[in-house]
Amino acid sequence: MEGVVDAPMREMLTRIGGIDQCVTEFVRVSERVLPAKVFRKTCPELFNDSNTSSGTPVILQLLGSDPRIVAGNARKAVSIGARGIDLNFGCPAKTVNKSRGGAVLLQEPELVHKIVWWTRQAVPDHIPVTAKMRLGYSDKSLALENAAAIADAGASGLTVHARTKEEGYRPPAHWEWIARIREHVSISVTANGEVWNWQDYQRCREVSGCDDVMIGRGLVAAPDLGLRIKALQRGDDPEHLSWPEMLILLQQFLEMVEQQLAPKYVHGRIKQWLKMMSREYPQATAMLQEMRLLKQVPEVRQFLHQYSL
Ligand SMILES: Cc1cc2nc3c(=O)[nH]c(=O)nc-3n(C[C@H](O)[C@H](O)[C@H](O)COP(=O)(O)O)c2cc1C
Repeated sequence: MEGVVDAPMREMLTRIGGIDQCVTEFVRVSERVLPAKVFRKTCPELFNDSNTSSGTPVILQLLGSDPRIVAGNARKAVSIGARGIDLNFGCPAKTVNKSRGGAVLLQEPELVHKIVWWTRQAVPDHIPVTAKMRLGYSDKSLALENAAAIADAGASGLTVHARTKEEGYRPPAHWEWIARIREHVSISVTANGEVWNWQDYQRCREVSGCDDVMIGRGLVAAPDLGLRIKALQRGDDPEHLSWPEMLILLQQFLEMVEQQLAPKYVHGRIKQWLKMMSREYPQATAMLQEMRLLKQVPEVRQFLHQYSL
């Protein structure tokens, strides 16, 4: 998730556990093959065999509309260690869609096919090429056609965020459409959208018929969600990360973000995570309120430290 699940967040979440695989934020490609440093910035896990330090595989996501350029960038990313390429056909951002990237491409299934096909041809057979799509741009009329275009072009997997671009992030996610797509293509389909807890996870799997579920915001809000899901699947009674434990994670996150970002952005990331976790931890709302004027890294660090005493 761009601007949210970057390398430090992937590191935090995969340390906690319960996650089988991550996908990077998208790398936007438009006119040329990007230098290696761009891929390494978005995906520093490339230095670690495309794994987070706890060993969770990370797939690199590309977003672009020129099949040859996307393919060239995929080849480059693989040459420096990417273990898989995911193609973004879901981003709803105006700036991205205006330059013919993300969900807007779902209006052109033939182009979607070409992008996937060129990318598949550009990288070795053992490297998975997958795609992520929404159900459409303004309506769902091309959902099956787009999914078939992706599958026919040689993708080995497809993640479906069960909403159109127009539907943005408004609940509900239409998991029943994922079932229709799954029946329409023979590649593996992963369900995505609006999974915030164990009950959502179960219902999403039931309705979509998918074994695999991708969780975005729900996992940032409740970082132990993956662990809890796995425990419940085994029939165990899962433990919940307590608020004091979350405070320790926040301090660790600060240290990681500080290494990655310019100081002026650090407080924003801490506040962003607090805001997202307030859905699960009501204490985060009060904390956020108290720290709203803090901007300097040392004062944020001091505040987090005091708070956890
Ligand atoms: C801030 C934000 C950034 C996102 N960035 C990406 C991205 O870079 N690539 C992508 O495939 N999806 C991206 N998404 C979409 C999510 O991966 C996911 O499909 C969507 O949030 C629905 O799933 P959820 O309800 O589990 O969050 C983003 C979503 C949000 C809210």
